[in-house]
Amino acid sequence: MKVLVVGSGGREHALVWRLAHDSERPEILVASGNAGTAQLARNVPVAPSNIAGLVALALRERPDLVVVGPEAPLCAGLADELRARNIPVFGPGRDGARIEGSKAFCKEILTAAGVPTARAQAFVRSEDAIEWIRRHGAPLVVKADGLAAGKGVTVCDTIEEAEQAVRDALDRRVFGEAGETVLMEERLDGEEASVLALVDGERIALLPSAQDHKRVFDQDKGPNTGGMGAYSPAPVVENPEAAGLRRLIFEPVLRELRRRGIEYRGVLYAGLMITRDGPKVLEFNCRFGDPETQALLPRWEGPFARTLLDCALGRLDPSLIRWRPEACVCVVMAAGGYPGIYETGDPIEGLEEAERLPDVVVFHAGTARRDGQVVTAGGRVLGVTALGSTIPVAVRRAYEAVERIRFRNMQYRRDIALRAWTRPAVGTPTTSQQGDQP
Ligand code: AMP
Ligand code: GLY
Repeated sequence: MKVLVVGSGGREHALVWRLAHDSERPEILVASGNAGTAQLARNVPVAPSNIAGLVALALRERPDLVVVGPEAPLCAGLADELRARNIPVFGPGRDGARIEGSKAFCKEILTAAGVPTARAQAFVRSEDAIEWIRRHGAPLVVKADGLAAGKGVTVCDTIEEAEQAVRDALDRRVFGEAGETVLMEERLDGEEASVLALVDGERIALLPSAQDHKRVFDQDKGPNTGGMGAYSPAPVVENPEAAGLRRLIFEPVLRELRRRGIEYRGVLYAGLMITRDGPKVLEFNCRFGDPETQALLPRWEGPFARTLLDCALGRLDPSLIRWRPEACVCVVMAAGGYPGIYETGDPIEGLEEAERLPDVVVFHAGTARRDGQVVTAGGRVLGVTALGSTIPVAVRRAYEAVERIRFRNMQYRRDIALRAWTRPAVGTPTTSQQGDQP
């Protein structure tokens, strides 16, 4: 079996790593990959944004399966282009990817499907949006409709902040086309969790829960990032099946997509807020999360390549998917200055030493190989990941590995997964891990 993975970050290294450890032993290509994927697969220098280049690559290599990591190529129709040429793809077509690509469309689906979510209204004129803000008052959330690299959401404490966010998007066009429509949304309170499902158009396999850490500094301070760490499971949703999320969220959404003639194949990722009134959907993503995937895939047991292929072909067998009981924690090591301006090209020391530790795997994100040396090549550089019998054990192992690694101006959070055992879950009994120290 030959698999082409599209993408070049930590999520894609985790996908490649899991494929490389699969009993199927697939041949793996990555477009365009990083220094980590290069150790396990053949990196091909075609950018994930180059749709024509990816189609040409797929026609040349004829993989049995293409696994698309990031959302942008899915929203740009890569899966449609490949399916039109009879190449199986794990990932939805452009129509399904709109669930991430347009927050207004996502809200429309959620409302039509009767799934709990924050009340919201879409606007294209700033006067109308501002009138709405003055009528409703703060707090509220202003969201650019389209893909804005995780920067399009402003959680506002005051009316002034909300008005500013509206003017930035609609009048000053700081998000370009992605901000031509904005959503005004009621602000929800609670604990966040990510629940991903594999969907083959009809069948649904819920994956264990995970939680990421979006802010750059400890205690959720500083600006939002792509994600500074993740862990699985998230005690706030111990078990997504037992929490009823299949019937509450995934089945009605899939039914609504099908009703509109959309056949969705790939990951459907629900970003949830667990409120006092129960789980509510904040957003959907049309792909594996980054860095949630780094914390999920080391727990995956059973066939992986075959499961993704079956999902792509509409014949998913959820009974083949099994999970290790251990917890998994991923600590992201980033370049100083990220998510703002940062430097690249700095040598990374200690990678081998870190990886020699038991139950540790170091996923590369922004790395490259230069003159035989692994150097930094992006804002998020590494996802240092460990399994453990409990979250505190996995945390301790992950940080032991982090301490072996050095590069100039590196930064990382010291509190990844801390809230998993220090903050009581909303509406659920306290977990056995509380009070444990790493
Ligand atoms: P999104 O891209 O829609 O997930 O938003 C990014 C982040 O903004 C989420 O992970 C939440 O932390 C926050 N957020 C989004 N929508 C809301 C909401 N309605 N209430 C509170 N926080 C929100
Ligand atoms: N970790 C959040 C995301 O992948 O969008």
